[in-house]
Amino acid sequence: MNAGIIGIGRYLPEKILTNHDLEKMMDTSDEWIRTRTGIEERRIADEKINTSDMAYEAAVKALEDANITAEDLDLILVATVTPDRPFPSVACIIQERLGARKAAAMDISAACSGFMYGIITAGQFVQSGSYKNVLVVGAEKLSKIMDWKDRNTAVLFGDGAGAVVIGPVSEGKGIISFELGADGSGGKYLYQDEYISMNGREVFKFAVRQMGESCINVLEKAGLSKSDVDFLIPHQANVRIMEAARERLELPIEKMSKTIHKYGNTSAASIPISIVEELKAGKIKDGDLIVMVGFGGGLTWGAIALRWGR
Ligand code: UT7
Repeated sequence: MNAGIIGIGRYLPEKILTNHDLEKMMDTSDEWIRTRTGIEERRIADEKINTSDMAYEAAVKALEDANITAEDLDLILVATVTPDRPFPSVACIIQERLGARKAAAMDISAACSGFMYGIITAGQFVQSGSYKNVLVVGAEKLSKIMDWKDRNTAVLFGDGAGAVVIGPVSEGKGIISFELGADGSGGKYLYQDEYISMNGREVFKFAVRQMGESCINVLEKAGLSKSDVDFLIPHQANVRIMEAARERLELPIEKMSKTIHKYGNTSAASIPISIVEELKAGKIKDGDLIVMVGFGGGLTWGAIALRWGR
């Protein structure tokens, strides 16, 4: 059985926080943020909106897009580092709200790589024939774990959610190859106690190396070459990291998704949010070879080569 993305949706909070707004809150500048990260603005969820609310909204759209109902779901996986509370999981909260009575549910903790961990895990259940429809959501309210006095991290992140349904697709479509990895020795470079703490330079070096390598690895596993890639969807953490991955694949600029200027780093939500953006812009077409790649705290990473379409 081939497993692929059969439906997709996203939710973005309405409130926009620009670099110029941040200039008034801390010692930073629009120029610094734009040139060092590529970010111009990000979305911030209202006080009353929690991670599960954003996850739910994105999930409803993904189910609609997949043309299935919540009752058709066998499993719900929510990738998040900002759950409403430690338990019950966000997955269980939205299982009830969606009315997905038959679905098992759990959260995945792999920081910004969480969406990659989620769709790869979902893919295994569908490929084995154990489950038919798996909802995978990446949802984050990072604004609630940000130290608004720490300019090293506060300027980088944003809130939002993206969801996909992973289900059976026709021959030749869907997930072709994947790679997942972790290096716990790098946990000290990116973690949360009360707030997010980060050694930006160490994470940057790791990300540049790992993003490029993982892209090459999934292509090799699939027996494909760089020139076969139609579109690259990297985790949106820093435009300079994304550019390094693009150059490693020798792709022209128009073949890489860039949404970071509008949404900042939305962690586990950044890849599905970007896919929706590119679909709306008509940049992803049926039959395209898509490479998705992410990295994050843990340290963790993941990549997929996928043939778009049902
Ligand atoms: O999803 C995974 C999440 N994390 C990441 O992807 C982060 C990866 N790392 C990065 O993206 C980059 O390392 C940063 C954007 C975080 C930082 O860029 P950088 O080019 O590595 O800058 P830096 O850390 O070397 O800092 C350069 C200077 C420092 O000043 P001094 O010590 O040279 O005087 C910082 O204090 O920039 C200063 N700085 C700022 N200045 C204005 C740091 N943050 C800011 C800021 N505004 N927001």
